[in-house]
Amino acid sequence: MTTTTLSRDTTPAAQPPAARTLDLVKVYGRGEAAVRALDGVGVDLPAGRFTAVMGPSGSGKSTLLHCVAGLDSPTSGEVWLGGTELTRLSDKALTLARRRRVGFVFQSYNLLPMLTAEQNILLPLRLADRRPDAETREWVTGVVDALALGDRLAHRPGELSGGQQQRVAAARALVTRPDLLVADEPTGALDRHSSAELLGFLARSVRELGQTVVMVTHDPSAASYADEVLLMADGRLVGRVAEPTAESVLEAMGRLAEAGR
Ligand SMILES: Nc1ncnc2c1ncn2[C@@H]1O[C@H](COP(=O)(O)OP(=O)(O)OP(=O)(O)O)[C@@H](O)[C@H]1O
Ligand SMILES: [Mg+2]
Repeated sequence: MTTTTLSRDTTPAAQPPAARTLDLVKVYGRGEAAVRALDGVGVDLPAGRFTAVMGPSGSGKSTLLHCVAGLDSPTSGEVWLGGTELTRLSDKALTLARRRRVGFVFQSYNLLPMLTAEQNILLPLRLADRRPDAETREWVTGVVDALALGDRLAHRPGELSGGQQQRVAAARALVTRPDLLVADEPTGALDRHSSAELLGFLARSVRELGQTVVMVTHDPSAASYADEVLLMADGRLVGRVAEPTAESVLEAMGRLAEAGR
């Protein structure tokens, strides 16, 4: 990976959270079959910070991220993206807010197979009807450099390795300089080396670009790249680990498992 320095205006610490939820509840299904995927989650995602979300399978991590990103609407409670209450927006306004203000990276890379890497990266700008201006071009070049994708831009996803495809997906997610980057198990399909590269990039985008990142992961060493880890169980927030290391995350998860027994 190259060490190009990416530059972007960053505002000082005292700003409202990039995203916030208040008493968020999400119930899937009805009656006997109802599942309470989120059971009253109130959380702040501080701007310019890297937050990881961990917890057992089915604990509501993806549901929380989807609600925060406006991909799914909660049953009750509030979701705020900066000063905008997503839960009050019309479908159309929500779609626009999502396109302009949120970036996504999923476990499956979700690239369009007929587009080149570069076209995939620039797609969100096209969808948002934004022509890449000089500043954006420069920013894209910085992201592409930092992700070591420069010599792969003309290739289609089918001609790239999994790690390269996920880096293209990360570049695509960052191209609009979203207020919030949401990543759901982005390293789930990657080997150790590709994971480390992607996580290193996400961490740098926070430190050097002032990006806000929230990432679900099952891997304590992936979580250790974050500034803070939120622990979920049964649709609730049940713990936090500040300045996480793989060891402290494992320990906290162990304590929770003990307490839940
Ligand atoms: N579309 C849906 N319809 C019905 N139930 C759902 C739906 N999506 C999620 N659920 C349920 O909601 C609960 C939380 O799911 P969620 O996907 O948020 O868990 P998760 O913590 O992301 O799990 P994993 O680690 O396996 O990805 C689970 O019980 C799941 O079965
Ligand atoms: Mg999930």
